Amino acid sequence: MKLSEKLAALEEQERKAAGTTKLRPRTDGKTARRNSKTVSNSNWASSKRKVRELVLAEVAPKMGGLSEDNLMKEVRGALDRIVQREDVKVSPIERRKFVEEVFRDTLGYGPLDPLLADEAITEVMCNNFDDIWVEREGRIEHTGASFTDEVQYRAVIEKIVSAVGRRIDESAPMVDARLPDGSRVNAIIPPLAIHGPVLTIRKFAADPYKVKDLINFGTFTLDLAAVLEACVRGKMNILVSGGTGTGKTTNLNVLSSFIPDGERVITIEDAAELQLQQPHVINLEARPPNAEGSGEVRIRDLVRNALRMRPDRIIVGEVRGGEALDMLQAMNTGHEGSMTTVHSNSPRDALSRLETMVLMAGFDLPVRAIREQIASALHLIMHLDRLPDGRRVVTSLTEIQGMEGDTILLQEVFKYRTLPSRDGRPSGELAATGLRPKFVDKLNELGIELPAKVFHAHRGPVPTDARPESTRKVRVPSARELAAPERAR
Ligand SMILES: Nc1ncnc2c1ncn2[C@@H]1O[C@H](COP(=O)(O)OP(=O)(O)O)[C@@H](O)[C@H]1O
Ligand SMILES: [Mg+2]
Repeated sequence: MKLSEKLAALEEQERKAAGTTKLRPRTDGKTARRNSKTVSNSNWASSKRKVRELVLAEVAPKMGGLSEDNLMKEVRGALDRIVQREDVKVSPIERRKFVEEVFRDTLGYGPLDPLLADEAITEVMCNNFDDIWVEREGRIEHTGASFTDEVQYRAVIEKIVSAVGRRIDESAPMVDARLPDGSRVNAIIPPLAIHGPVLTIRKFAADPYKVKDLINFGTFTLDLAAVLEACVRGKMNILVSGGTGTGKTTNLNVLSSFIPDGERVITIEDAAELQLQQPHVINLEARPPNAEGSGEVRIRDLVRNALRMRPDRIIVGEVRGGEALDMLQAMNTGHEGSMTTVHSNSPRDALSRLETMVLMAGFDLPVRAIREQIASALHLIMHLDRLPDGRRVVTSLTEIQGMEGDTILLQEVFKYRTLPSRDGRPSGELAATGLRPKFVDKLNELGIELPAKVFHAHRGPVPTDARPESTRKVRVPSARELAAPERAR
């Protein structure tokens, strides 16, 4: 039974005990239940509002000099006193829950707190004060959670935005911000959002996915992991491409984990998300213009600045504009092993987007010159897709082999193929195309060897007892194990 229904039942009992209730006609059970729920919800909400106001009135005057711990104590104390003193229409049984909720509303982000604390949730989306959705394991689901009212919803949005020194109002109706834990927040309010404020939170992974997680999710295969590890160590320039939320940043982070410890890595992002584990990493973050429209620092500016910081590798979270040119130039001038991501629908599309971005940089370069830059700078494109069942997979690893006439030559090394569904569940696998990539020679020159079999195509029918990729558990060799054959030589 939901809390509000329990509450309604309790209220009904109390009323009956007092002998004041006339039994409602129960011709339609559903309607009756819905009515009582609405009534109890609004009681609960108005009680909460009242108590919150009283708590704030009591605590506000002392708030200035208090540390967070003391503030929490003050609020809790005030809350306890008020709940006992006031004629709050909450039964003793529900009182603890009530106190917790008011506490959260006062000091935290109200109903968002439990969602933010839930590690299985990766995204929180509020479309309205009482319409909150989350993404859990790749799927979007509705939550029963709700803010008390529009006012509390707006207060939480303002609290988040003002904490990072920004403001949201009619003149600045959309804002990017961050929660103290690093989660990315976007808020957009009317008149841009037609039906009311919308708040979207991309949660910061406290424990970001590792290569072994991606293999267990079926995003990677062991062979692909071995190939990518070799390519990163061999300083290939890699472009991760895919649509929004396909896992580009996550995969970039995993690719970065293959960078050897001794290198100086500079990461550049709009909003810092990457979490590299190496000892020598410098994180730079771009800055939007302030309310007066000045002080902006673009990704481009940071890429240029990074070049003066003696980087071994530069990692740009995502290229969206003119920085694409700077990035290509960096890759072409000794900063090999650099990586970035781009929003695109396919590997080929990724290249044409890069081309457009370079044009956006404002240089009047002939298209052929741009393509030559791209073809000589980039070695690999790793493309990601989100399947209809919510799984995120690498659908292609494509090698850039040079130019033929005006066209950039691409060759797929790994490709995702859909298999007949099993038990009604979609299935498929990422398999080698059987073509030996050219980068193998470059890797060999560097003394990095890969077993030839990782590039062998799967021939013949797919074994019928093969389980879907996503459920196959594998043990992933450590970087040291992967490097062992090389050292033994
Ligand atoms: N392979 C994966 N399997 C399951 N969830 C993933 C995977 N890769 C990423 N995610 C989750 O998907 C969300 C979006 O990932 P992100 O890397 O930020 O995507 P993008 O950069 O493409 O927008 C994150 O919450 C992340 O934790
Ligand atoms: Mg991203």
